[in-house]
Amino acid sequence: MIGGVDRQLFGSALSAASQTHIKLFSRIQQGRAKLRAMNEPPVPDAVIESQILYYQARAVEYDEWFYRKGRYDYGEASNARWFAEAEEPIEALARMPQSAEVLEFAPGTGIWTERLAGMAAHVTAVDSSAEMLAINRAKLGALAEKVTYVEADIFQWQPDRLYDMVFFGFWLSHVPVERVRDFFDKVASALRPGGSLFFVDGRPEPTVTAADQQHPENGSQIMTRKLNDGRTFQVVKNFYATDDMERRFSDSGLRVEVRETATFFVYGFGAKVSG
Ligand SMILES: C[S@@+](CC[C@H](N)C(=O)[O-])C[C@H]1O[C@@H](n2cnc3c(N)ncnc32)[C@H](O)[C@@H]1O
Repeated sequence: MIGGVDRQLFGSALSAASQTHIKLFSRIQQGRAKLRAMNEPPVPDAVIESQILYYQARAVEYDEWFYRKGRYDYGEASNARWFAEAEEPIEALARMPQSAEVLEFAPGTGIWTERLAGMAAHVTAVDSSAEMLAINRAKLGALAEKVTYVEADIFQWQPDRLYDMVFFGFWLSHVPVERVRDFFDKVASALRPGGSLFFVDGRPEPTVTAADQQHPENGSQIMTRKLNDGRTFQVVKNFYATDDMERRFSDSGLRVEVRETATFFVYGFGAKVSG
């Protein structure tokens, strides 16, 4: 039999468990609701500029996100799941065909550039943030000799040569939906026929971002991001169903298989099919 005090404890443990359950359920619902609706208004240029400024300012604290530190630390169990799931795209990338020349869009601090430079003869890394590129270069050390860093706005930059592979990590979700077709056409135009493509991004799971910022509500492609010092910026954030993404790639002549990990990540790999 459960005694008075124990019964109380048992009751409050049960109620805490059901509160956690309710919170978890509403987070899952919230996540599900985040796949894009079809009619978001176009993103103003001011938000594209704000997104650039945000990442310039965030460069020094950016890695806290991927390595689950500070505001991105969701506790041992969640963090362990994050790193275990991250192995899935990491291993899939390692299985890609050998590439001499790789183009990486939005390389940031180099979490993926390091892997790409280890796999390829040369990487061209295009990012609008000099701050990000400086951290990337320092992180890669001697490997950075294989990287050409280009400080440019991806929406303005045009490739002037063909690459064997194009890679973008955690970038697609920052492309306004009305610019996705142009971006995928740019990817296709940068690839030699048969050249390969790999991308990775986050799923609409609340714990992919910090606890004090929310993914956009339905009908919007804009969210507010915070820095550790409390400054806020507007950025684009879009999530797509896997079949929607595959169709959009295919419209630009890219055959891409898109997969999701259990909770956190979406990734895709494929090739350019048309000349
Ligand atoms: C979410 S981070 C991804 C960094 C890295 N690929 C990763 O997976 O960790 C987005 C990157 O996009 C860059 N970026 C934002 N807007 C850009 C733009 N218009 N043109 C080029 N790069 C941009 C930022 O500077 C930042 O490095």
